Amino acid sequence: MKKPLVVTVTGAAGEIGYAITPSIAFGAMLGEDQPVTLKLLEIPAALPALEAVKMELFDCAFPLLQEVVITDKPEVAFKDCDAALLIGSRPRGPGMERSDLLEANAPIFVEQGRAINDHASRDVKVLVLGNPANTNALIASSNAPDIPVTRFSAMIRLDHNRAVAQLAYKTGVSAAEVSKVIIWGNHSSTQVVDVHYAEIGGRPALELLDVEWVQHQLIPEVQNRGARVIKLRGKSSAASAANAAVYCMRDWFGSTPPDDWVSMALASSGQYGADEGLFYSMPVIVEDGDPRVVEGLALSDTCHQFLQVTLDELRSERDAVRKYL
Ligand code: NAD
Ligand code: LMR
Repeated sequence: MKKPLVVTVTGAAGEIGYAITPSIAFGAMLGEDQPVTLKLLEIPAALPALEAVKMELFDCAFPLLQEVVITDKPEVAFKDCDAALLIGSRPRGPGMERSDLLEANAPIFVEQGRAINDHASRDVKVLVLGNPANTNALIASSNAPDIPVTRFSAMIRLDHNRAVAQLAYKTGVSAAEVSKVIIWGNHSSTQVVDVHYAEIGGRPALELLDVEWVQHQLIPEVQNRGARVIKLRGKSSAASAANAAVYCMRDWFGSTPPDDWVSMALASSGQYGADEGLFYSMPVIVEDGDPRVVEGLALSDTCHQFLQVTLDELRSERDAVRKYL
C-alpha cells in the first residue's frame, strides 16, 4: 500500500468543494491505488456544513480515504500537505468580471500563502481556483517565498476543457480525439483561445473547421462560458470546475498524454513575452510530475495582438494588488 498523500481543499463546504471532495477520495485525481488524507478548510461559520461534508465522505466508504480533517485554521489544514486546492473565496455574480473580486479575495491568498510556506510539504503542488485565479496564484506564491514558484499554478483547465468539448461536439468526435488546444493568458474574458495547432482525429483542426465559426462562435463561447453559466444558474460553474481541477492535478502529478499538451497558468519565466513571475497560461507538457512550457511556437500577428491584451490585463491586476505581494 502506498503512503497516503495529504490533499488540502479550501472552501470545502462550498459548491466546488462539495463536488470535488468525493472525486479526490475516490482516486480520480491521484490514482486508484493512492490513499489520501483530506484536510478541509472553511471559515468558522461554515464549519457545521463542513462537518456534514465529512459525514457524507465517511458514508461513501471510499477504500482510499484514510482520514478527513476539518478545520478553520490554515496551519492545521496545510500541515504536511502534498496537494492544495485553493478554492475558498468569493465567487462572482451576474454582471461582474472576475477581477471585481480582487479586493475581496486577495487577503485570503496572503494568509494561505503564508500557511503553505510554513506548514506544507516542500514539494507541494498548489492549484488556485479562487478568482481572479491568476493573480491570486501570484499573491499566494509571493507569500510563500520558501516554496518554489514552480509549485503554484492557476486553474485554466476549465477553459481548455471547454474548448476541447466544443471542438469535439462540432466535429462529432470524442473529446479524446481533440489535442493541442491552447488557452493563453488570463482566466478571464481576455483569454486567447488558440486552435492553430489543434488536431482533431490526428488532422489539423483548421482543415476541418470553418474559420467564421472559430472566430464568431467558438472563441466567444469559451471566453464567456463562465458568465453564461452564472446567468443561467445564479451561481458559478461547480461540477465542471471540480472536474477541471481533478484533470489538472491528475496530469500535474503524472504526465500529459503523448502527442498532446494542456494549458496551465504557471509563473512565467518570460516565455511568449509575458513578464517574469506573472501567472500566464501557456501550453505545457508534464512528464512524471514535471511541467515544461512548450516554447518556440510561431504565432500570427493577430494572435500576438490578443496576447498583448490579456497580458496587459494581468499587469493591471498585479499593479492593483502590489500591497499584497
Ligand atoms: P462558494 O461560495 O460556493 O464556496 C466558497 C467557499 O469558500 C464557501 O463555503 C466559503 O465559506 C469558503 N471560504 C471563503 N473564505 C474562505 C477562507 N478564507 N478560507 C476557507 N474557506 C473560505 O463558491 P464556489 O462556487 O465553490 O467558487 C469558489 C471560487 O472558485 C470562486 O472564487 C469562483 O469564482 C472560483 N472558480 C474558479 C474557476 C476556475 O476555473 N478557475 C471555476 C469556477 C469557480
Ligand atoms: C468559470 O470560468 O466558470 C469560473 O471562473 C467562474 C466564473 O466566475 O466565471
